[in-house]
Amino acid sequence: MLKKIFKKADYKQYIADDSHFSKTLTKNNLIAMGIGSIIGTGIFILPGIVAYSTSGPAITVSFILAAVVCVLAAMCFAELASTFPVAGSTYSYGSIIFGQFPGWIVGWALCLEYILGVAAVSSGFSAYFVSMFNNFGIHLPHGLTGPFIPSEGTYINLPSIIVLVLIYFLLRRGVQSSAHMNTIVVFIKLAVIIAFIIIGLFYIKPTNYHPYFPMGGMGVVKGAALVFFAYLGFDVIPSSAPEVKDPQKNIPAGIMISLAICAALYLIMAAVLTGMINYTKLNVADPVVFALKEVGLSKITFLISIGALAGMFTMMLNTIYGGSRLVYALGRDKLIPEAFGKLDKKSKMPMTSLNAITVLAVLLGGFVSMKELTSLVNIGTLLSFVFVSIGVIKLRRRTDVPESGFKVPFYPWFPALSAGLCILLMTQVSINSWIASIGWFAIGIVIYFVYGYQKAE
Ligand code: ALA
Repeated sequence: MLKKIFKKADYKQYIADDSHFSKTLTKNNLIAMGIGSIIGTGIFILPGIVAYSTSGPAITVSFILAAVVCVLAAMCFAELASTFPVAGSTYSYGSIIFGQFPGWIVGWALCLEYILGVAAVSSGFSAYFVSMFNNFGIHLPHGLTGPFIPSEGTYINLPSIIVLVLIYFLLRRGVQSSAHMNTIVVFIKLAVIIAFIIIGLFYIKPTNYHPYFPMGGMGVVKGAALVFFAYLGFDVIPSSAPEVKDPQKNIPAGIMISLAICAALYLIMAAVLTGMINYTKLNVADPVVFALKEVGLSKITFLISIGALAGMFTMMLNTIYGGSRLVYALGRDKLIPEAFGKLDKKSKMPMTSLNAITVLAVLLGGFVSMKELTSLVNIGTLLSFVFVSIGVIKLRRRTDVPESGFKVPFYPWFPALSAGLCILLMTQVSINSWIASIGWFAIGIVIYFVYGYQKAE
């Protein structure tokens, strides 16, 4: 039994399977792709609630800490991706390095990341959508525009559900956002952030930075475990490895440069925001619009909201698409029922996978709060980062794999530090998120032993 559970996937087979992809993606394409999926909803929502609830103005330090964790994990990703330029990201690395069952657990964690990520972005979308309507004097019913929290008078997040259903129908009809469209939206997102930074600089009041650490060092670490979400998405770069020109060089560069650009922007944006508005007032779902209104710039909030909404929309479209491909791969490998591994003849979409992902995202986005959703995503992702970091250590011991083009420096300290920091952040996530994720992994383990173990080869 142990032999089967830890049976390692043959990476040569994976590379052969993916050899039909044409290698067209350049370093700049990868950077645009990385920024496109990293900047979603997190930066437009989290700086407010996280500054208010855990970090205060030291949210900047939380952003730095989270960036350090991501850069370390990203280096490990880069080493694995440049050694095994195959599709499937962590799911494939897990299966190649650790074996079938650990690979499945990592794949299952990745499904969680995709589904929850979309649900969280849909609730950010809803917050900005509602605030845009408010701007025009149209007030959508409060009870229908928030998660199920009766004590706060909200029961269902309808805008969030509606946008997810809309995306579902677009994907069903075979509509995907093109590379061209993604590039335009990346520029819009960057323009929104840079505009906010430049305008906000004129409204900073240094008194707002005192005290800088109102909730102490632990508050900063807790904050890092939340804002970590804002950096997620760089794993789309290693996932597209089979389509990358000169993957050994371009993948590590693409990951590092896109992370560095986002980290710099996030840091400055959070510093500007908490300088404009005292952190004690930032318990709002749309901090960017809120801050501009507070300093008397209501007129431009419309443009900022449109930019933010466009970014969130494409992020959801891309993530649901990518997520349905992942579930499809699990179905194709017979780890879940084969219906998930079938493509629709006309649209080329895996319909069963798409249906399943949409239903789960709608339930979560419609009823669960943004804060819970992000901390849940973070737990699942941190766990897969732990696997990736330890994966590098295991990889270096293997003699039967090709020399990788990129090697994590300061081996074994950096991979070990990466795993350690991910575990530290995991300990800071709320108890509810722990319970929910243990539930998710328990379901995953049952599915494997009832189904995958019997069927997968
Ligand atoms: N980094 C992505 C976001 O902030 C998940 O929406």
